[in-house]
Amino acid sequence: LERRDVIVAVGGGAVTDVAGFAAATFRRGLPWISCPTTLVGQVDAGIGGKTGIDVAAKNDVGAFHPSLVVLSDPTLLNTLSQREWAAGFTEALKSGLLAGDPLWGLIRKWPSTRGEDQALATLIRRSAALKNRVVAADPKEAGERAILNLGHTIGHGIEHAAAGRYLHGEAIAIGLVAALTLSVEHAGLDPAVTDEVTGVLSRQGLPTVAEDVSVEAVIGAMRSDKKRSAGRTKFVLLEAPGRAVWGVDLDDAVVAAAVAAACHN
Ligand SMILES: NC(=O)c1ccc[n+]([C@@H]2O[C@H](COP(=O)([O-])OP(=O)(O)OC[C@H]3O[C@@H](n4cnc5c(N)ncnc54)[C@H](O)[C@@H]3O)[C@@H](O)[C@H]2O)c1
Ligand SMILES: [Zn+2]
Repeated sequence: LERRDVIVAVGGGAVTDVAGFAAATFRRGLPWISCPTTLVGQVDAGIGGKTGIDVAAKNDVGAFHPSLVVLSDPTLLNTLSQREWAAGFTEALKSGLLAGDPLWGLIRKWPSTRGEDQALATLIRRSAALKNRVVAADPKEAGERAILNLGHTIGHGIEHAAAGRYLHGEAIAIGLVAALTLSVEHAGLDPAVTDEVTGVLSRQGLPTVAEDVSVEAVIGAMRSDKKRSAGRTKFVLLEAPGRAVWGVDLDDAVVAAAVAAACHN
């Protein structure tokens, strides 16, 4: 490889993360093109310039290195397993909640299937546009980019505590419901939105409460999350679809109750 070469990453988020990181660091940086082949990749992981690998912990070695272009072909998703497809749908749903209409309007009516080709292409385009807009406003996560963590605070805790039983998107489905439930109490969200999201997730066969996961283990995992600041876990809450707030500090007892409600034992 020479400095004028371009790396082309074709694969899921694991591939675009590692190839993007190789592009960021080899010979102090080569240009790269992202071609995500999973729904997670096309709506989230393949976009936005965060690249990295896991060494001692998840994503602890990485770089911000945006690709020249993102090429997403929805027909590549036809071969995804139903589980992987649904896990990606969770991230599109998160984008819809952050973006508001028209993406939220498309998602709230999503059928139990993978949708029509045209609708799927629109879902991917609009989710990518939301991520691009947020990342362009805050490329290095100094502020607003934190909203992309909606559902991910408790969701990551569940993902760790479940030790591989849930795909990332499945744990985030549970985390989204928990974040929206907290939003009703602490951000004035209409409870009908939480009910609607629970319905959309269930139609895709996604979990909305965690089974056989210890509440203490989830809270422990949340405490060791690298996104904590000054020893506190900060939350992203939703006032309404299209209106997220970030950096919300909630009482430990409130968080513990939300985690307990998200775990069915
Ligand atoms: N950089 C970011 O901003 C960002 C954001 C979110 C997630 N991520 C990372 O992305 C990864 C998750 O991405 P993912 O869900 O794409 O996982 P993945 O890359 O592990 O792919 C999931 C599975 O799908 C298979 N696959 C890929 N394309 C396929 C296709 N077209 N048909 C059939 N099977 C296919 C893969 O071989 C793999 O078994 C995690 O490592 C996560 O940390 C990164
Ligand atoms: Zn995610």
